[in-house]
Amino acid sequence: MPGQKSLRVAVANPLHQESCRLITEREPRVTLLSDPSLLPPARHRADFSGDPAFRRTPEQQRRFEALLESADALLGIPDVDPAALARTVRANPRLRWVHTTSAGGGQEVGKAGLSPSQLQRVTFTTSAGVHGSSLAEFVLLGVLGGAKDLPRLLRLKSRREWSGRWMSRQLSRQKALILGFGGIGRAVAPLLKALGMSVTATSRHPGAEHPDVDRFVRIGELDEVIGDMDAIVCALPGTDLTRRIVGERLLSQVKRGVTFVNVGRGGVVDESALIAALEDGRIGFAALDVFEVEPLPETSPLWASPNVLISPHTAALTVEEETAVAELFADNATRLLDGQPLVNVVDTVEFY
Ligand SMILES: NC(=O)c1ccc[n+]([C@@H]2O[C@H](COP(=O)([O-])OP(=O)(O)OC[C@H]3O[C@@H](n4cnc5c(N)ncnc54)[C@H](OP(=O)(O)O)[C@@H]3O)[C@@H](O)[C@H]2O)c1
Repeated sequence: MPGQKSLRVAVANPLHQESCRLITEREPRVTLLSDPSLLPPARHRADFSGDPAFRRTPEQQRRFEALLESADALLGIPDVDPAALARTVRANPRLRWVHTTSAGGGQEVGKAGLSPSQLQRVTFTTSAGVHGSSLAEFVLLGVLGGAKDLPRLLRLKSRREWSGRWMSRQLSRQKALILGFGGIGRAVAPLLKALGMSVTATSRHPGAEHPDVDRFVRIGELDEVIGDMDAIVCALPGTDLTRRIVGERLLSQVKRGVTFVNVGRGGVVDESALIAALEDGRIGFAALDVFEVEPLPETSPLWASPNVLISPHTAALTVEEETAVAELFADNATRLLDGQPLVNVVDTVEFY
């Protein structure tokens, strides 16, 4: 593929015309194969899965598959469905590259169950990093909500109660831990640092350094630091290795009343252990954008917990998201066509 003069890209997820134009203006060697009538209508910008009520007729399905099979690359996992991805990789021997419109698309690639030779032939990249700033702002909401006791303020207001005075927490004297220091973690650190917090983050890279991180630790070293933390921010992807890292063992060591924010993946947290920690006060406040099961079942005790802020996996969504995904895709297309290494390549062992 290096040295190739053009790249035929099938648009496999709903994408606004403006984003299509942005891609071909930024990288004119890309030809977009796009037929919006074959894709679920987007309900808003960056609605990459589209309207769930959409169904193709058998004839439309044939045309959609033919479009996917004539491309060198896919923008989006077809129907965000691992089985559809597996079918396309099998049916299209010219396919060399698939870019997922989500940051956590590695999970779907893993679920597609591709063979080693298919994983070698096709490079997978994700939109990791695109959501960093918007999620970092949600993290700030959570960390501030915990320190300033947002649930108490809301409760008092709902009762029209001018209470006695009480202490809130001053973040400039507090410590935060960021689990997972990728695109999101790197956007979170400067905001917490700007509040004067002492910031610890996990990294698997020996000797990691960052101007906004006071200390890096490995996941295996969490026992040493977890008890000092006033806020814990989870920005880890969902993989076999991260599954339920935040479980009873870790939560039994936290400082009483700690704030917990999760913007990574729900599977990283043992939700039953989280609920128990909220109930007995080990966690004082939690701001959650992701859950073990989504949509969060109506029966989940989290809905009724007064100390939990629930965001239905929408904290990353902004009007800028789709543009940022399109820019990232176009820049990666340029790298591919110029024979340069792509960014955000999926790890095909851990699938993130
Ligand atoms: N809430 C949302 O809407 C939303 C939006 C975007 C992303 N996400 C989720 O958040 C995840 C992170 O996003 P990102 O953009 O920051 O991704 P990223 O840039 O790929 O960063 C992921 C980070 O997780 C670390 N990590 C992975 N496996 C680990 C393990 N087993 N132990 C310790 N660290 C591990 C990696 O550490 P090393 O660098 O040390 O390998 C990396 O720094 C995504 O995968 C996605 O699932 C959620």
